[in-house]
Amino acid sequence: MPLIHEIDYGTPASTSTKPVTLTIDGQEVTVPEGTSIMRAAMEAGIKIPKLCATDTLNSFGSCRVCLVEIEGRNGTPASCTTPVAPGIKVSTGTDRLRRLRRGVMELYLSDHPTDTLTSPVAGNCEFHEVAGQVGVREIRYGPSGTNHLNAIVDGSNPYFQFDPAKCIVCSRCVRACEEVQGTFALTVEGRGFESKIVAGMDEPFLTSECVSCGACVQACPTGSLIEKSIVELGQPEHSVVTTCAYCGVGCNFKAEMQGETVVRMLPWKEGKANHGHSCVKGRFAWGYANHQDRILKPMLREKTTDPWREVSWEEAIGRVASEFKRIQAEHGRDSIGVITSSRCTDEETYLVQKLARQVFGNNNTDTCARVCHSPTGYGLKTTFGTSAGTQNFDSVEYTDVMLLVGANPTDGHPVFASRMKQRLREGAKLIVVDPRRIDMVRMPHVEASHHLALQPGTNVAVLTALAHVIVTEGLVNQTFVRERCDPQAFAEWAAFVSEPRNSPEAVQKVSGVPAETIRAAARLFASARNGAIYYGLGVTEHSQGSTAVMALANLAMVTGNIGRPGVGVNPLRGQNNVQGACDMGSFPHELPGYRHISDPAVRAIYEREWGVTLDPEPGLRIPNMLDAAIDGSFRGIYIQGEDIAQSDPDTQHITAGLQAMEFVVVHDLFLNETANYAHLFLPGSTFLEKDGTFINAERRINLVRKVMRPRAGLADWEVTQEIARAMGQDWNYSHPSQIMAEIARTTPTFAGVTYEKLAQGSLQWPVNDKAPEGTPVMHIGGFVRGKGNFVITEYVPTDEKTGARFPLLLTTGRILSQYNVGAQTRRTDNVVWHPEDLLEIHPHDAEQRGVRDGDWVRLASRSGETTLRAHVTERVAPGVVYTTFHHPATQANVVTGEFSDWATNCPEYKVTAVQVSPSNGPSEWQESYRELTTASRRITAVAAE
Ligand code: SF4
Ligand code: SF4
Ligand code: SF4
Ligand code: FES
Repeated sequence: MPLIHEIDYGTPASTSTKPVTLTIDGQEVTVPEGTSIMRAAMEAGIKIPKLCATDTLNSFGSCRVCLVEIEGRNGTPASCTTPVAPGIKVSTGTDRLRRLRRGVMELYLSDHPTDTLTSPVAGNCEFHEVAGQVGVREIRYGPSGTNHLNAIVDGSNPYFQFDPAKCIVCSRCVRACEEVQGTFALTVEGRGFESKIVAGMDEPFLTSECVSCGACVQACPTGSLIEKSIVELGQPEHSVVTTCAYCGVGCNFKAEMQGETVVRMLPWKEGKANHGHSCVKGRFAWGYANHQDRILKPMLREKTTDPWREVSWEEAIGRVASEFKRIQAEHGRDSIGVITSSRCTDEETYLVQKLARQVFGNNNTDTCARVCHSPTGYGLKTTFGTSAGTQNFDSVEYTDVMLLVGANPTDGHPVFASRMKQRLREGAKLIVVDPRRIDMVRMPHVEASHHLALQPGTNVAVLTALAHVIVTEGLVNQTFVRERCDPQAFAEWAAFVSEPRNSPEAVQKVSGVPAETIRAAARLFASARNGAIYYGLGVTEHSQGSTAVMALANLAMVTGNIGRPGVGVNPLRGQNNVQGACDMGSFPHELPGYRHISDPAVRAIYEREWGVTLDPEPGLRIPNMLDAAIDGSFRGIYIQGEDIAQSDPDTQHITAGLQAMEFVVVHDLFLNETANYAHLFLPGSTFLEKDGTFINAERRINLVRKVMRPRAGLADWEVTQEIARAMGQDWNYSHPSQIMAEIARTTPTFAGVTYEKLAQGSLQWPVNDKAPEGTPVMHIGGFVRGKGNFVITEYVPTDEKTGARFPLLLTTGRILSQYNVGAQTRRTDNVVWHPEDLLEIHPHDAEQRGVRDGDWVRLASRSGETTLRAHVTERVAPGVVYTTFHHPATQANVVTGEFSDWATNCPEYKVTAVQVSPSNGPSEWQESYRELTTASRRITAVAAE
């Protein structure tokens, strides 16, 4: 397969609908008004040489190689900065233009390395290509004068290098960092010959504000900025379009390959979620796929205290079947179950729940979405009728006011954060509701209008107070409510929120947010032409997670912000396939498409398809499986792609449950924490080793394509199929597209989905007869459930209380360079940015405890304790501490407690009463985990230089 070549039109497409006709080199061309001459020419197949222009950036007009002549006009304007005009006649290749372009290129080449054969960009360099295009045959000025040829290469970033000698100061990198990424880490310093590109305060890339998104590298036309993998391996020879396996943004990439070796991941311009952008994880952090820790053979042991023994796939699968059958024979049909993962494909997840329902004969299936976004499913289904976000990401371009609640997009959803920042720089307003002063509160050229820095656990109170202001100050969108919502539900809800106990003044006492700030934020949101709500796990992972989701839905309805571009309720999904895992029927009470297991008509569809009778009773959720294990009624489990011992709360309860089971099967890439309690380990496959689909936060179904054979021999879906066959079912899929065909056959929202169609471009479900091309915006003209349902959101304080012993509130989250429990990112050079989890603590709380920045501290709660280093910062308010959970050495979930969402059991990760005290250092068990890697030492060294 050849390299997928994306055409660079030089300047962005115009959004105008007014056509303009002109003539270029005698050819009549019609393009939208506002199009540059360069782009118009390119669309007509006429390639004008260019250096400082690229179609992902606004035109700049600095290099002067793209000159053209326009009949009747003086001079030779730059085609990248000159818009088309009706009737003009443009020439792109006259002798005069050729002469001028050669002169410009000659000057560039006189201060440029000429080692073309040994250059890492050899064979794929825009600069070389332009030199060839304009036909430079001699360099009259020579490199003998002052030049930049001996400039020092900055190799501090683990993934790319900057060689100033090759730089032509076209500023594409600077503009990419500003316009695409929104970080403003680069500048052009100096003037004329002295001008140069600098990162931060003229420092190494690694220590600057650079977040390593790679947009500048992608934009660079000379290879001055270039991936180290290209320097090391050379240019790729073919590419395959696939989807990032990290977060719920769902960026598309071209995996650029040499044989079965990945040389580079390039964000795909046609990707509808990312439009050619990426973050450090998707673009660079794929090295874990080849990490030495990968387990590539099944491993078995009789007791969890025995050493592992490598076995064949046949023996491994045979043992799963015989053990599960034995346990069911001895302890009953319900004594075993499965846990699926949001990291796996839809097809894999579908098969795992099918394994439970068809083969085991029970509904004991649950997913790690239980611990993140299950309240989203419940809350949005109850209010709107569909368990999913309402918009596409592009919708943000039409948003005037964003309400960002409990989400930290610059770290968790970086590519979408860049889109948000673009819109904010254009003038949209932002309200942040978060206990921490996250980056979006204030960063270069972005400042939130209001930051509601609430006490953890008081979301529902604050969101209801926002509604109070809207209702009592007459800001309700009466037309929308009258036409689209249930009148009785609205009347009851409006009376409830209007009660004085829900006023900002009353809520200030519990939330700590000044009443005036709540009032101002409510007025701003209600006054927006288009107001959009974006939220994350800071909303869902609470004892009132589902209530808070419904409070957000209420706010969208009361202000009429549903059913068109620019508005909506948008959950930012943590993992790549949280949406898909939920869609595929992983929960114990729902078949695929969120249809309750008790519905006989729905069961009949699957009973026909699978040839069995289904149990109408919901099965066990993850916490109930563990409770049942401790009680002795649940004895065996198959866990695919999920590390419950590290990612689920109350670790001691989890491990006690696992220890109580007779046969634990862990199917994963690495020996994770849960594998410590496993009897059988089945090696998993990475996203590079299999076909399938992921569904992102926009309900977008993206193809995942195999770029190399599964290193352990079998893709994950094949392993599940082998287990089903060994247990007596005749599964016979030869490709995941056949699994998708079964999903489409049985699930109305997926009825129109096929791999052939997805190969033409991703689709947002529902995809069916009514919406054959998918559904970018939901609830247009009416809610899926009929009338929008306002739900009363009574604030109930969490049972997790602070007191004399545990006076601080711990909240948790993640950081840009790491991903969840870090199983993948810790096995890449990303550790350079986050070698360990830190505890953020306010200077006031730190001083009271005699803790200084960098000190070891003991973090203790009612559930347990751990030790980590303190980072003293005003990002957190007094009384609040914060940490990430990326490193097993910290095991932050040892500390988190037993409380969970009332509706879905989603754990209350975001609120734990804790105490912090000085410590001498990590305990022995923690020390055994601590990986002070070469990379983490390097950042210290670079910072010190
Ligand atoms: S590093 Fe590359 S993109 Fe940046 S100014 Fe230099 S040549 Fe242009
Ligand atoms: S990698 Fe991204 S953040 Fe860093 S300088 Fe380049 S564009 Fe800016
Ligand atoms: S934003 Fe998310 S999906 Fe996109 S590259 Fe980064 S981790 Fe991958
Ligand atoms: S490409 Fe037009 S001035 Fe550089």
